[in-house]
Amino acid sequence: MEVEVAPNAAPLQGDKECDVVIIGAGIAGISTAYEIATEGARVLVIDRGKIAGGITARTTAHLAPLCDDLTSAMIGLRGEEISRLFYESQAAAIDRIEEIQNKEAIDCDFRRLDGYLFQALNTDSKIIEDELDAVRKVGAPVHRLVGVPFSHCEQQHVLRYPRQGTFHPLRYLKGLAAAVEAKAGTFHADTVVESIEERDDGKVVVSTAGGKVVARAAVVATNSPIVDRFALHTKMAPYRSYAMAFSIGKGAIPDALYWDTLDPYHYVRLQPGEGQTDHLIVGGGDHKSGEADDAEVRFQALEAWTRNLIPAVQEVTHRWSGQILDTIDYAGFIGKNPGSENIYVHTGDSGQGITHGVVGAMINSALIQGRGSNWAEVYAPSRKTPAAIVNFVKENITAVKNFAEYLAPGELSAVSDLKAGHGAIIRHGLSKIAAYRDSAGKLYARSAACTHIGCHLHWNSFETCWDCPCHGSHFAFDGTPLNAPAVSPLAAHEIEDKP
Ligand code: FES
Repeated sequence: MEVEVAPNAAPLQGDKECDVVIIGAGIAGISTAYEIATEGARVLVIDRGKIAGGITARTTAHLAPLCDDLTSAMIGLRGEEISRLFYESQAAAIDRIEEIQNKEAIDCDFRRLDGYLFQALNTDSKIIEDELDAVRKVGAPVHRLVGVPFSHCEQQHVLRYPRQGTFHPLRYLKGLAAAVEAKAGTFHADTVVESIEERDDGKVVVSTAGGKVVARAAVVATNSPIVDRFALHTKMAPYRSYAMAFSIGKGAIPDALYWDTLDPYHYVRLQPGEGQTDHLIVGGGDHKSGEADDAEVRFQALEAWTRNLIPAVQEVTHRWSGQILDTIDYAGFIGKNPGSENIYVHTGDSGQGITHGVVGAMINSALIQGRGSNWAEVYAPSRKTPAAIVNFVKENITAVKNFAEYLAPGELSAVSDLKAGHGAIIRHGLSKIAAYRDSAGKLYARSAACTHIGCHLHWNSFETCWDCPCHGSHFAFDGTPLNAPAVSPLAAHEIEDKP
């Protein structure tokens, strides 16, 4: 059943004033609104689409506080003390969710459960051994075991982490949004932000087509920030991850979080269902956004992996993909936007979007209210991580390679070769065209240049959208921007559509 988080949220009409305006109504934006409204300030939340209709709706909601890129890797980049604070903050986010859903009586299937990191088939156990050492260094509870309750995994090396969490994210956000509204906060859906500016008097002005919002502070909590044109974007990279749900009999496997040691890793959890059936949610198959258009192959591989390890699964009930922004040093960017006085950002959730969203809300609300945060240093947007230079270079090669694509031929030589329901890049003189033909035969021809800073777009046939490999923008087939950092639509392109 679809959950609409704030179905009555209307587009912004007219000018408004508030204490804090929040742009982006996912887990980070709504959690920030809750923290600020709870302290008595007036909040207003804007989203370009539906409330909680973006990337948060695609999460698989593993509430696991240890770095999912491995704590050993994080210690290598940022040292033991920062890695310990990272763990502490992420664990505090799960505590905060537990506290809020209790206090606000939100029916969201929240529960504490064990997490199991298990040695992938046909790999050695070194990652498990290294990770055991690292996790002990940051002070997290951990137990070493042999075997998880999956086929072929009886002898695999395993780390068990107690007191992880999970829940139904949209049901939680529905309750959280209702609590914000009860504290006089307001939500505006389908409201596209055109600009965010700081005035000389320190106030922030957010302009939209329907009106302006003037506030003493703004939080930009879009999946990828629209306030920063370049600096943060070079320190993170967009990845697509794939997820599918199977029906499974209740009790077929213990209710827990499971993930393996591959890179990219597989992740598994249960979602309670009706009667005698639950849903098993499995994810994996990650690749850099826009660098593959083979979702069917990835889903087939995910299904084969699942049926091999968990033969009790029945039919596939849902399939979807989502985007993760991985930072070069594994923690998000949360805090004051570099160069701004009263604009704050929240981005780079690094595959741990729900816990990042909640810890970011705690940090940004504390900073806005003039209090410090013990965790601010972990996530500071202006931080430098010299040890992450290898990741920095690796991720930024994408943009260099991408711009060279403008010189390459198109995927089709003429729009007349484009079949109904397909999208492709077509060269037209000196230009590259992002062309899509709908099922009725209508052609949509747009510029293939992303409106953020011009990278070359790639077609995503599973999501029927254009993905930007550089910083994670998505555009609908007709050029409408769907995901930040781009805010403007793709330019229309005149091209003759001869039969
Ligand atoms: Fe930055 Fe496309 S998202 S160029």
